[in-house]
Amino acid sequence: MYRLIYPMRTYLIVSGQGEETNVMAADWVTVLSHEPTLIGVAVSPKRYTHRLISKYKEFVISVPSLEMLRDVWIAGTKSGPSKLKEMSITLINSTKIATPSIKEALANIECKVVDARDYGDHTWFVGEIVGYTYKEEAFKNGKPDIMNANFLAHAAWTDFVTFEKRIYKAE
Ligand SMILES: Cc1cc2nc3c(=O)[nH]c(=O)nc-3n(C[C@H](O)[C@H](O)[C@H](O)COP(=O)(O)O)c2cc1C
Repeated sequence: MYRLIYPMRTYLIVSGQGEETNVMAADWVTVLSHEPTLIGVAVSPKRYTHRLISKYKEFVISVPSLEMLRDVWIAGTKSGPSKLKEMSITLINSTKIATPSIKEALANIECKVVDARDYGDHTWFVGEIVGYTYKEEAFKNGKPDIMNANFLAHAAWTDFVTFEKRIYKAE
């Protein structure tokens, strides 16, 4: 039962361009390769996002904070670009691709699709990271700064959590 690997982090996937820009919530995101830097997301063909990633062959993985939970929930429960009218995010230009980034996000990772493969009822889109932006206060010295940013994780259904503001050293 895959719910047993939760809590998982939750991300926002931006797809499409212009009037057709869309945002959905996604838990099923992972890094696949260091060099080249590849990252993947599992998207059901039922999602509007699936259509847009298939069409434009690019997407942005945005890292939301706890403060963005209301927008994350809208992105994860409503379908299609019209939901953006209800959301309070600001779309900004990405650095390397036409799909926009989200100004309020802690980070935005710009990806070009290099592979798409169906596994069961989801498509695994693999993106090569071609650009990124992030908030300095959320990532210091190459590390997520859990003292200053409320990184968002998903526990179950409507339950979300953030991290304790404390570091436990392994050694
Ligand atoms: C926290 C959360 C995580 C989700 N993770 C995924 C996911 O990894 N893959 C997926 O296909 N759908 C996922 N969903 C469902 C989509 O976000 C949801 O169906 C959304 O309405 C799709 O929007 P769209 O049709 O505009 O693309 C998730 C929903 C929530 C609330």
